[in-house]
This record gives sequence, structure tokens and C-alpha cells, in this order.
Amino acid sequence: MTDVQTGRVLAMVSRMLQPRVILELGTFTGYGTLCLLEGLSTEGILHTVERNDELFPIQDQHWGRHPRAEAIRRHHGQALDILADWPEGHPIDLAYIDADKQGILAQFDALLPLMAEGGWLVFDNTWWGGSLETAEGPKAASLRALNQRLQHDDALSTVILPVGDGLSVVRKA
Ligand SMILES: C[S@@+](CC[C@H](N)C(=O)[O-])C[C@H]1O[C@@H](n2cnc3c(N)ncnc32)[C@H](O)[C@@H]1O
Repeated sequence: MTDVQTGRVLAMVSRMLQPRVILELGTFTGYGTLCLLEGLSTEGILHTVERNDELFPIQDQHWGRHPRAEAIRRHHGQALDILADWPEGHPIDLAYIDADKQGILAQFDALLPLMAEGGWLVFDNTWWGGSLETAEGPKAASLRALNQRLQHDDALSTVILPVGDGLSVVRKA
């Protein structure tokens, strides 16, 4: 779940970039979607992916009266399946990765070739409120593995912002 501080940073990043194509992995109640929508360029599209369709009525309630709700494309399914079917010639300018943490490395691998040159990826939970290094369990292990990858990839520029659970902001060179 995206907390309010993280949501404000997402909105600010989106406003700075004014992306034409945004992708969110993990919609939940649709709060992060609304934050990202703030900077979407005119004519832009915001894709968001959620595997649990029981959440759709809640999302509809939250998005329903937004003046740009028609710019949101909701995809029902597993993040990796949606990425595998991504249309050619539709590069992603800004991606917010906030689905299952165990799948985060596979999602990153699938996503990177779909990103625009100079595109931006934002990962949630990558600092775990400051305790990631000692945290136990598969989610923490996946996030540590992601941080290692991001740190050692010369084709990327990465900064971790200590906002909420931690937000990694990554630029694809
Ligand atoms: C942390 S919540 C997302 C929070 C949301 N981005 C927000 O701003 O509040 C994670 C969501 O991702 C969904 N999810 C988890 N793994 C997924 C996957 N592999 N594919 C699609 N959706 C997934 C969950 O059902 C859940 O609704």
C-alpha cells in the first residue's frame, strides 16, 4: 500500500516528467494510480495491473469522478503476463513497481526492455523503513537482491529515497 508521503513523491515525479505512458504494477485500491495521474501528459495513458478483480469496484469508486479517469487502462492479470503481451512501439516513460516483492526481479527483467530510453522506474519498499539489511524472509531477500542489481548496473542511475518504506528512483540510460 502506498502511504501519503510516498504518494506525494510519486505525484511530484510524475509532474516533473509529464510522461506519455505510465505503468503501475499492483493497483490495490487505486491510490497510487491517482497520484501518478497528476503528471500524465495530455493524450497520455496510464496502465495499471492488478491480479485481484475483487478490488475493481473500490478502484472504480476512487477513480469514478476524476476528470481524467478515461486515461486509466486497467489490466486484469499477473504482472509478468501483461508485460509479456506489451504492444510494440509503446515505450513506458514512467513505471511504478508495487506488486508482489518475491516477483520483483523478474518484473524488473521483463520491464527494462519495454522502457523508453531515459525512462524512469520507481520501486516501493526498497529500504524497508531502514531495516532491510537485517530483515528476514523471502520478501526482504528479493528486495536486497533488487538493490544489488540496481547498484551494480552501469546502464542505470539509482537513488533510494528514505520516504515511507523506501522508494528507489531509477533512470534507464
Ligand atoms: C502493495 S499493493 C499496491 C498498492 C498500490 N500501488 C497503491 O498505490 O496503493 C500490491 C497489489 O499488487 C497486487 N499484486 C501482487 N502481485 C501481483 C502480480 N504478480 N500481478 C498483478 N498484481 C499483483 C496485489 O493484489 C495488491 O493489490
